[in-house]
Amino acid sequence: MQPAKEIEQQLIDADLDICIEGLNFTYKGTKNPVLDSMSIDIKGPQLVSILGPNGAGKSTLIHCMNKILEPTGGTVMVNGMDVKEISIKNMAKISSYVPYTSTDSFPLTVTDTILMGRHPHAKWGTLKEDLEIVHESLKLLDIEDLADSMFNELSAGQHQKVMLARGFAQEPRILLLDEPTSNLDIKYQLEITRILRRMSREKNVLVVMISHDINIAAKYSDNIIVLHNHGIFSFGKPEDVITADMLKNVYGVDVEIMMDNGKPHIILCDETGCAPLCAESCVTIPGTSDTKHSE
Ligand SMILES: Nc1ncnc2c1ncn2[C@@H]1O[C@H](COP(=O)(O)OP(=O)(O)O)[C@@H](O)[C@H]1O
Ligand SMILES: [Mg+2]
Repeated sequence: MQPAKEIEQQLIDADLDICIEGLNFTYKGTKNPVLDSMSIDIKGPQLVSILGPNGAGKSTLIHCMNKILEPTGGTVMVNGMDVKEISIKNMAKISSYVPYTSTDSFPLTVTDTILMGRHPHAKWGTLKEDLEIVHESLKLLDIEDLADSMFNELSAGQHQKVMLARGFAQEPRILLLDEPTSNLDIKYQLEITRILRRMSREKNVLVVMISHDINIAAKYSDNIIVLHNHGIFSFGKPEDVITADMLKNVYGVDVEIMMDNGKPHIILCDETGCAPLCAESCVTIPGTSDTKHSE
């Protein structure tokens, strides 16, 4: 068997790649698969958003990518290696996972909570370096003032930012996030999404995040995965994936699509039609059901 240290180096040196083939996942005690014959290949540093209605299997998919759940069929390869062959410890060295509004509530300071993110890299005599990385993470999220606060006394939004900082402090090559902006106001939703995009570019990280904000995902993601009916409905650039047809088929809602700087932006319609703004000032893009603002 290959030594764990060699596997670790191989995973660190390999090109970023999450390659899923024929993935099946059925929860114990249930009959129907949540994910059925799913295949997808996500390569390189980029920001990828996973969209899809409640219960579509988004969290389940991320859990299969991160070895939290073991697939009931098919394979999940991370950086060229089957996750079955990757130890939990090695997984934590290359990938960090930030759960959906975790209920974790440690009676620790924020600094100590983020320091826990350094655990996979724990070595003797590195506390100074670890503290520097914790400080960098606090700074990145603009929460330096919370450093000495108690983690279990924070608001939901602050809690979420600290969990993100803990994920960053792990210095992952792959960052998996389950609705990282769900408790944040619009300013912070934008800020966090921009930080995630910047991380993918400046630190060469493959960031995969589950999101419900279609417009923010469309504006900042390099690629978008849409889950529906136990599989992938579409995967590609926002402008190819965010269409009125997709919104109708997957979410069952009527929308018009405006193009904003080449990125799709959805305008919600109601039973009387689309919003007056769009009805009056949007034109249909020939050959599609999408619209854009008239000049
Ligand atoms: N532990 C579990 N046991 C049984 N069914 C589950 C479990 N977790 C999730 N499910 C079911 O799997 C489906 C997908 O769930 P999930 O991956 O959480 O969806 P999403 O994140 O897209 O909202 C849902 O129908 C949900 O009820
Ligand atoms: Mg979920």
